[in-house]
Amino acid sequence: MDAEPRDRSRLGAQLRQSMRKTPPAASTKHVLNVCEHLIALLPESEKTKPQVLLLAGGVVEYRNDTDREIAFRQESNFKYLTGCDVPSSYVLVAYQPGTSLERTPSVELFIPAANLADMMWSVPPPSLAAAQETHNVTRVDHPPALPTAIEKLLKALPSALFHVLPRSSPLLPAVSEEFIAPILAHEGGAVTDFYLLSALHRARLIKDEHEITLIRKACDISSRAHEVVMRVLGAAVKGGIVAGAGAGINRPLLPSEWLIEKEAEAEAIFVASCRREGAVHQAYLPIVAASTRASTLHYCCNGGNDKEFAWGPVGAHDHHNSNSLSSSGRDLKPQVLLIDAGCEWTCYASDITRTMPVGNGGRFTPEAKAIYELVSEMQRSCIEILKPGLHWDAAHLLSHRILVRGFQRLGIFKSPDSPNSGSWASEEAILASGQSAAFYPHGLGHSLGMDVHDVPSASKPAVNPSISSDNSNKGIELGHASFYEHLRLRLKLEAGMVVTVEPGIYFSPHLLASIRESSLIDHAVLKRYEAVGGVRIEDVVHITADGVENLTKVKSDVEWIEGVCSGKL
Ligand code: GLY
Ligand code: MN
Ligand code: MN
Repeated sequence: MDAEPRDRSRLGAQLRQSMRKTPPAASTKHVLNVCEHLIALLPESEKTKPQVLLLAGGVVEYRNDTDREIAFRQESNFKYLTGCDVPSSYVLVAYQPGTSLERTPSVELFIPAANLADMMWSVPPPSLAAAQETHNVTRVDHPPALPTAIEKLLKALPSALFHVLPRSSPLLPAVSEEFIAPILAHEGGAVTDFYLLSALHRARLIKDEHEITLIRKACDISSRAHEVVMRVLGAAVKGGIVAGAGAGINRPLLPSEWLIEKEAEAEAIFVASCRREGAVHQAYLPIVAASTRASTLHYCCNGGNDKEFAWGPVGAHDHHNSNSLSSSGRDLKPQVLLIDAGCEWTCYASDITRTMPVGNGGRFTPEAKAIYELVSEMQRSCIEILKPGLHWDAAHLLSHRILVRGFQRLGIFKSPDSPNSGSWASEEAILASGQSAAFYPHGLGHSLGMDVHDVPSASKPAVNPSISSDNSNKGIELGHASFYEHLRLRLKLEAGMVVTVEPGIYFSPHLLASIRESSLIDHAVLKRYEAVGGVRIEDVVHITADGVENLTKVKSDVEWIEGVCSGKL
């Protein structure tokens, strides 16, 4: 098809004329961003043509036989383009380089009309006038007007290429056939789902100031919720709360009595704290894992988050466990509690992990403290080097390097100083063996934004065929291939990215099976640490022009964590 000449038809001229009346709007920035990425992805022959984006928003789902809806959350790509939270909406965008649509794309939003019969049950959608006031779009109408709007665009921009999201994905709202068929039936009408998702992901990878503000707010609320959990633990240690389920009382505790004696209680307090501050959704199901369960990375469903903490009797090894948390005199075993949880704020996520001591007077055991401090060093060292231009693979390798060094210090990996140093290996040789991945199997972090594992196709180019293979890590040292198996971000960092930095060390029987025979490890020393279970520390950081801004407010140094969890701070 030929390139579309400027103002080719009268209708096209009228369309552009009407668009000129609309001043550039805030969401236009996101629309332009997506369109520019879209043009960059297109083959040369398509680049100058008009491009039309057609997306459906999310729909309300209902739980079977309840007549009650499941909490609605707008689909991220739709929200990014429109700012619209109304279910069952559509957006139609027209853009063309070299025309007025390049500066001011047409953005038509279609929201359902209020239905009188529904209004006694549910909050109705806004009126067209109200939606026009609150959405920065060219015009707002109801979905029955969408076919006519498509028809108008087909006439005005006959060589337009229509873009939709992949229609085969059950995770994305599909534009129904009734809207696609007339486009295909039109002479020269073309619809593709090959480029739009990539363009959206690439646009969403770099956050603007407003998006950073929303992520910061989600992180603030989640930071406070983590601290609230720690303070409830600390109040119990201090004796401020003495009666809990562990004391054998047969009624649920009142809020002023809340003790955290099981994972579910910690989860409830975290979520309550976020909800109290106005957060509607968690960005993902919280992961709340005590003791050795902390080694299950996504411990939350199918029996996750619901176990009591580990209780005494106090073993020979548990010599610091002298705090009775309940009047029954039962003692908690010293253990860690790992909470990986973050709310979202207006569709922008947070993702924070804190690991805290339980059952030892709010202090880590020596082994848990050693592992915690090592994970903290992994995190600090990586955050220190982050800046635009650094390849994420390099930070990930650094986190493994620090783990290996730390394990040599602790004697888990043999070193020249080990009592049993016969077959010790150098840091480089241990890295080359890949054995650190048995303790740290996941990636250092991932992009975060509207979704918690944000924009996968733009974070790891190899997973998207429309993005050419990425050689940006060429020439940097990588270590063992297994380190990268679960790494969700493999790019050079750019200002405006938001990433998590979440190293961890785990003692999972499943993962340790692979190194049980290893001659690089002192197995007697390893055994001492296995009861720690797992430690992860996760912060959300914003890559700035020359470094990072840590968006996570809740502290993570041992002194502060122990001070709060022991009720001393
Ligand atoms: N919350 C899941 C993760 O940290 O990636
Ligand atoms: Mn994460
Ligand atoms: Mn997390």
